[in-house]
Amino acid sequence: MTSSGNLEHWEDLAAFHGTGRDGYYDVPALVRGDMSLRDLESRAVDLATGGAGVSGRRVAHVQSHIGIDSIHLARLGGKVTAFDFSPTALLRLRELAELCSVDVRTVVADSQQLASSPFAAHHGSFDLVYATVGVISWIADLQAWMAGAAALLRPGGGLALLELHPLLCMLESADPVVADFPYLNDGGRHYEGTGSYANPQADLTWSIDQYAWSLGETVNAALDAGLRIVRLDEHVAAPFDPRGDILTREDDGMFRLRLGQGAEGERPEPLPILFTLVAEKPLP
Ligand SMILES: C[S@@+](CC[C@H](N)C(=O)[O-])C[C@H]1O[C@@H](n2cnc3c(N)ncnc32)[C@H](O)[C@@H]1O
Repeated sequence: MTSSGNLEHWEDLAAFHGTGRDGYYDVPALVRGDMSLRDLESRAVDLATGGAGVSGRRVAHVQSHIGIDSIHLARLGGKVTAFDFSPTALLRLRELAELCSVDVRTVVADSQQLASSPFAAHHGSFDLVYATVGVISWIADLQAWMAGAAALLRPGGGLALLELHPLLCMLESADPVVADFPYLNDGGRHYEGTGSYANPQADLTWSIDQYAWSLGETVNAALDAGLRIVRLDEHVAAPFDPRGDILTREDDGMFRLRLGQGAEGERPEPLPILFTLVAEKPLP
């Protein structure tokens, strides 16, 4: 189910990110404690926990990468378990958690397998499943991913998924506009290239498979997994460029995507770049 090229790619990125060679994963700032969840992530957590937040709650961070957010969630008082298919990412995460003096448990897992029996010990164990930015485009079977999230949650628990908007995923470039990725799932596309979203100049080569998931397909996968949709928000501005090199930073410091022409003399209106899906595992 998992493309071996994808795992190799993420093993490479996990060894590279946060080692002082990219401008995205600022480990010294993380260790100093002067970073926390951004507003978009905090709002998703609030919505998925009914305003209760993570303190004292059991949090499954799915596709945690090297665990920057896992550490933030643990600092906020969450009892965090990080799941990722990259052993290197989870090794780095454990090292970072130790540097930051927080506890985060780690589980190596393909997220499409989380509903299956090898992970039964984790089923029904979490108040919150948290997954953000750059997660589902690696997933061939989104129904299996959502079934995994639903299996991890206790009844009444919430899923917070903050993700790249499928419209932004379509674009290879904003200027000139190059749309080389489908909006609806078409079974996946194969790409080869170099660099990282955190440093396009990084000396890394990759051969990967990525999957388009429209908003409708994502919502339907959650419904098919038995989740109740609490909220779906689309965002046209973000305090960061989730792809590293495609959005424009504007005078207010926020990043936006504007294509083509606006009304005469006006800038074009911004397009959606991220979305937040909040869903709940119903009580029996
Ligand atoms: C873009 S990162 C998530 C980034 C995270 N939001 C951050 O800012 O660090 C995507 C993560 O998904 C993981 N991943 C990709 N495919 C996976 C799969 N099938 N199962 C589990 N983890 C997977 C990668 O190892 C990587 O850590």
